[in-house]
Amino acid sequence: RTVYLNGAFLPENEAHLSIFDRGFLFGDGIYEVTAVLDGKLIDSALHMARLERSVGEIGGRLPITTDEIVAIEKRLVEENQLTEGLVYLQYTRGAEDRNFLYSENLQPTLVLFTQAKTLEHVAAVEKGLKVRSMPDQRWARRDIKSVCLLSQVLAKRAAKAEGFDEAWLLENGVVTEGASSTAYIVTRDGRIVTRANSQATLPGCTRLAVLELAREEGLVLEERPFSVEEAQAAAEAWLTSASNFIVSVTNVDGTVIGDGTPGPMFRRLRTLYMENAR
Ligand code: PDD
Repeated sequence: RTVYLNGAFLPENEAHLSIFDRGFLFGDGIYEVTAVLDGKLIDSALHMARLERSVGEIGGRLPITTDEIVAIEKRLVEENQLTEGLVYLQYTRGAEDRNFLYSENLQPTLVLFTQAKTLEHVAAVEKGLKVRSMPDQRWARRDIKSVCLLSQVLAKRAAKAEGFDEAWLLENGVVTEGASSTAYIVTRDGRIVTRANSQATLPGCTRLAVLELAREEGLVLEERPFSVEEAQAAAEAWLTSASNFIVSVTNVDGTVIGDGTPGPMFRRLRTLYMENAR
C-alpha cells in the first residue's frame, strides 16, 4: 500500500513517525474516516468541513487545504486500486519533547492511508445489528472528532464480549450515540427520532446526508434524545456511519425491535442513500 505522510507518498513500511508525536503521547489529534465506493469518495465535502471544524476547535491548523487533502485521497485510492473501503486521515499537533503545553510554531503531522473493506453488500443489511447499552464515559466535547478513543475501544469490546455488534452509550437515561455511529429510532407512528447536534455527540456526516434524503422524501423528523426503553418499543432502530452507511438495529439489550428484521423505512433510506452516493 502507498500511504501519505507529511507531503510524501510512501510504501507503508517506509512511513515513519516520531515517538514524540503528540498524537501518540497525548492523543492530541483529529481524525476522519471517509468511505470509498466504486473508487469514489462518499460525502467527501461533509468530512472535509467537519475536519476543518475539529482542527479549529483544538486551536490547530491544517498544513494544507482541504482541496489538497481530497486530491491526496483520490491519488491514494487510485494508486492502491481501492474500489471499496475507507480512507483514514489523521492530523496531530506534531512532535517535540513531551510537555502538555505545545510550541506555537510546531509542524503538524498529517497521515492518510486507505483500507480495503466490503461496505455495501454485508450481512448486517439483511440481518440487522444487535446493540448493547452502557454508560457513556467519554469526555464532554464529543463534537470534536478526537483520536482519544479509549472509551469507545472498551465499550465496543464489552459489547462484543456479550455477543453484540455495537455499543449504544447512555447519559442521563438517554442514548447519546453509538460508540462509532449515530443512533436513531422510528416511532410506531412513523417519525424518525435522532438527537440534534450538540457537544454531546459527533455530528455525523452520514447523519447529515441521510436526514437530507429523509426530508426530501417528506418523512417526519424529530431531533431529540430517546431512551433504551423507547428504542425497545419502537417500530425500527438504525445506526449510521461512514463505515456502515445506514444499517438497521434489530436488537437492543436482548429485546427484539419490531419483528426483528430490518424495517421498511430503513430499506427505503438505505436504497436511496446507496443510489445517491454514486
Ligand atoms: N466513526 N459517532 C461517533 C462517536 C463516531 O465515531 C462516528 C464515526 C459517527 C458517525 O459519523 P460519520 O457518519 O461521519 O461517519 C458518530 C468512524 C466511522 C470511525 O471512528 O471509524
